[in-house]
Amino acid sequence: MKNLTLILILLFSTNVFASGGGQSYEPAGTNIRSKESLRNGAKFYMNYCSACHSLQYQRYNRMAEDLGMSKDEVMENLVFTDAKFPDHMTNTMDNDQVKKSEWFYAAYPKDLTLIAKARGVDWLSAYLKSFYKDDKRPSGWNNTVFDKASMPHVMWELQGIQGAEFDSHEDENGIVSYEFKGFTQITEGSMSPEEFDETIRDVVNFLDYSAEPAKLIRMAYAPWVIPVSYTHLTLPTIYSV
Ligand code: HEC
Repeated sequence: MKNLTLILILLFSTNVFASGGGQSYEPAGTNIRSKESLRNGAKFYMNYCSACHSLQYQRYNRMAEDLGMSKDEVMENLVFTDAKFPDHMTNTMDNDQVKKSEWFYAAYPKDLTLIAKARGVDWLSAYLKSFYKDDKRPSGWNNTVFDKASMPHVMWELQGIQGAEFDSHEDENGIVSYEFKGFTQITEGSMSPEEFDETIRDVVNFLDYSAEPAKLIRMAYAPWVIPVSYTHLTLPTIYSV
């Protein structure tokens, strides 16, 4: 029974192993079983992220099948390159273009296929909501979750422009540290804050699915199936009980 409890805990804590460095973030509220949310996430992902980021292990036809979309829906609405239906989802900008771009003098946009596993969904959600105007940065943007990120706020028209307020503390050695106090709304976005939160939830849900498309099938059978990808992590724990 103890073993079963452990298995169940591990089964429902998929992102426990991928937390964002100890800090806790508001729950992303994603639900991988909601195809509507995944389809909406795919739409925003393709429109706002795919120019710079690839999902190189994901294929358009697999996504269509998993999300319940037809070939035409995907090819007409979500593919902006000359990619074919069975192709991998590579980025729209070619890599030379990306490297020459003025924004990316310091960092390049990574492939995002496994980002939900690496960072965790809560971190991703917090990151995408935490861009603020910072004229000291070359892109004009900074991020309270990822300080000095060289990614611009690509969804600013939807969210509106935020400013960030910080308190500064100076320690006995004269070292100044800054504590984030909160955001201020500089301009309104085309979406309400609730609509924007839902959009981010769906984009993050889509990235969570992309990190492990098999999870959709697994979740359909949960709690009776042990997650295959974690058996190497769970087994030693179970044996040691
Ligand atoms: C204009 C190009 C561009 C677009 C469009 C873009 N990004 Fe980025 N993104 C970047 C760059 C550059 C970085 C690297 C930031 C750094 O390391 O300083 C980055 C970093 C990230 C990271 C952090 C990766 C890490 O290091 O862990 C995530 C997550 C991310 N982007 C998600 C998204 C999502 C989701 C979208 C769509 C809503 C998006 N990006 C759109 C350029 C872009």
